[in-house]
Amino acid sequence: MNTWPDTRLLDLLGIEVPIIQAPMAASTTTAMVIAANKAGALGSLPAAALSIEQLREALSEIRQASSGPVNVNFFCHQPPAPDAARDQQWKALLEPYYRELGADFDAPTPVSNRAPFNDAACQVVEAFRPEVVSFHFGLPEQSLLDRVKATGAKVLSSATTVEEALWLEQHGCDAIIAMGIEAGGHRGLFLSDDLNTQIGLFALVPQIVDAVSVPVIAAGGIGDARGIVAAFALGASAVQIGTAYLFTPEANVTASHHYALRHAQASETALTNCSPGARHAASSTG
Ligand SMILES: Cc1cc2nc3c(=O)[nH]c(=O)nc-3n(C[C@H](O)[C@H](O)[C@H](O)COP(=O)(O)O)c2cc1C
Repeated sequence: MNTWPDTRLLDLLGIEVPIIQAPMAASTTTAMVIAANKAGALGSLPAAALSIEQLREALSEIRQASSGPVNVNFFCHQPPAPDAARDQQWKALLEPYYRELGADFDAPTPVSNRAPFNDAACQVVEAFRPEVVSFHFGLPEQSLLDRVKATGAKVLSSATTVEEALWLEQHGCDAIIAMGIEAGGHRGLFLSDDLNTQIGLFALVPQIVDAVSVPVIAAGGIGDARGIVAAFALGASAVQIGTAYLFTPEANVTASHHYALRHAQASETALTNCSPGARHAASSTG
């Protein structure tokens, strides 16, 4: 048991306040990362939706504007194999919505641009040497992970179960993001795709804290000081906050997304498996 409050993450990452501005692909801007850094938190740049050139530009901008540590976040999922027949089935199912909204049913279906971590992205990490690299959906293959660690970056990844937390610790994570079922965006689950394994943050954090020896970061449904205090009481060393940052002026959210965030009832958020375990409606378009 660590002493309370657990300040290990502040020391590990060199930040002043135990808050990680969550990486949110397509919603987090460089301005958000810079503002979070300037406030003493850890700003996180999501790379999944950026080209390599965009990633370089974003990191240059952040490095010029802020001297604080920065986190760069990558997906390391297995991209699904193209399947025209399956896509056609989906489209047929969605046809009434195309008609209702006047969308072009015959236009090609956009494909996901969420690219997994690879050699080119690793070269950017080696060139810019961010202080922290976080991953979603487990960890990349060992040779890439070794290269990231050789830059001196601290490595984080999200666990949605105790089993995933233990796996991440055994594979070299310096700290673990405990991702409760409340968390917005894609769930980072990677050892199982059984949604019955997913539990709430209050149950998950103390179990992971007891199971691993590295610091634990609580993520999911934390929107104000009460949530932060509760996470600390459960043994977390920091919190990672996402959806609440979508209300900041630096967030890249459409007017309709913003409206939905402000007006949705708690019961309107749903967990789907349409993209890997994503929480949709009120909390996310991730
Ligand atoms: C719109 C959106 C996009 C997200 N994109 C990412 C991402 O690119 N990488 C990642 O590791 N987590 C992503 N997440 C998850 C967040 O990093 C974080 O764990 C989560 O938002 C915490 O829960 P909260 O939204 O209830 O605060 C996303 C979350 C949201 C809401």
